[in-house]
Amino acid sequence: MSGSSMNELDQAAIAAAARALEAGALVAFPTETVYGLGADAESPAAVARIYEAKGRPNDHPVIVHLAPGADLSYWASAIPAEAHALVAAFWPGPLTLILKRASHIPDAVSGGQDTVGLRCPSHPVAVALLSAFKGGKGGVAAPSANKFGNVSPTTAQHVRDEFDGEVSSGPGPGNGNGNAPGNGARIAAVLDGGSSQVGIESTILDLSRLATHGPVLLRPGHISAKQIADVIGQMPGLPDQSAPRASGTLESHYAPKAPVALIAGAAVVETLAALQARQRRVAVIHYSAIALGGAQATLPGDPVGYAYGLYAALRAMDQTGADLILVEAPPQGEAWLGVNDRLRRAAFGSAGTIDKFLQA
Ligand code: TXA
Ligand code: MG
Repeated sequence: MSGSSMNELDQAAIAAAARALEAGALVAFPTETVYGLGADAESPAAVARIYEAKGRPNDHPVIVHLAPGADLSYWASAIPAEAHALVAAFWPGPLTLILKRASHIPDAVSGGQDTVGLRCPSHPVAVALLSAFKGGKGGVAAPSANKFGNVSPTTAQHVRDEFDGEVSSGPGPGNGNGNAPGNGARIAAVLDGGSSQVGIESTILDLSRLATHGPVLLRPGHISAKQIADVIGQMPGLPDQSAPRASGTLESHYAPKAPVALIAGAAVVETLAALQARQRRVAVIHYSAIALGGAQATLPGDPVGYAYGLYAALRAMDQTGADLILVEAPPQGEAWLGVNDRLRRAAFGSAGTIDKFLQA
């Protein structure tokens, strides 16, 4: 398919980004969930640059992104039939599988554990990049393209905001020796693929201890436990204490700079008025029809639309300079699990803020 000049530009940018990755540099790219900050998963030095750029502890494992049709057995060992069934059902798509790792997976990728997280994203730019990188046979280690603990980016501009001054302005794919690209930038390129369609990170399912622990849902996401059960005939359980720690499962995560408080819809108007009476600047994220004054973001009342807009709304409300982001608590229920999980973590570090402000 020969495209417009726009498509040819995209192709050139994608090819340059693939060469940069091959040279050991970092490239930020869109996926259907959130933007990732990628490096060659088989180069410990390249993966180390991700940790440096994010300010992330280096014992946290990173997901390896694969091109469609990649050979699972190159990356994982002791692969259960359930993994193949889930790959057939959901890849490319927002599902990460934790499997026993193949022996050549660097410790920098696995966080020193005996497992590896694998995912095949569906975003066309991600697919094109992964297919161009090492001829489609490589793996790109990529956490979300944000500083550690911050809200994940769902647009290229979010990535540039997170890594202000750290993104290369020149086109160069790096200097070929695996060092950072020119002008001291940490990130060789940010590929722009528009807004991520799903908006929250992939569902993570641990199949590495299937025989003894069953399938374990480490992080809820767009692909639900029920959808997984429909494929493998077994409902995933929740992690126990001995399960490997995933940074996205730390209690406090995905947090904007302002404190976040979750509050029932019926209490939003009254709480807002009480806080404003104490001169607090409050930004509100809501989904039901509430008449409010001041900074606010209105999200759709369905879980798919809400997830799509959530991170952009958190960023936008943070940028108003509010002292507090008040979030109308979404409904409970399985379809809302991913959204409620991210909101709970965003609010975790700010428990008690409303009371503190009202008593001040
Ligand atoms: O949607 C996504 O998964 C995005 C896009 C870029 O693909 N990536 C993402 O990466 O959210 P990150 O690093 O922000 O979160 C990945 C989570 C972390 O909580 C990490 O600890 C966990 O996956 N993880 C990766 N490998 C693992 C492993 N071998 N065992 C347990 N958890 C693992
Ligand atoms: Mg993350």
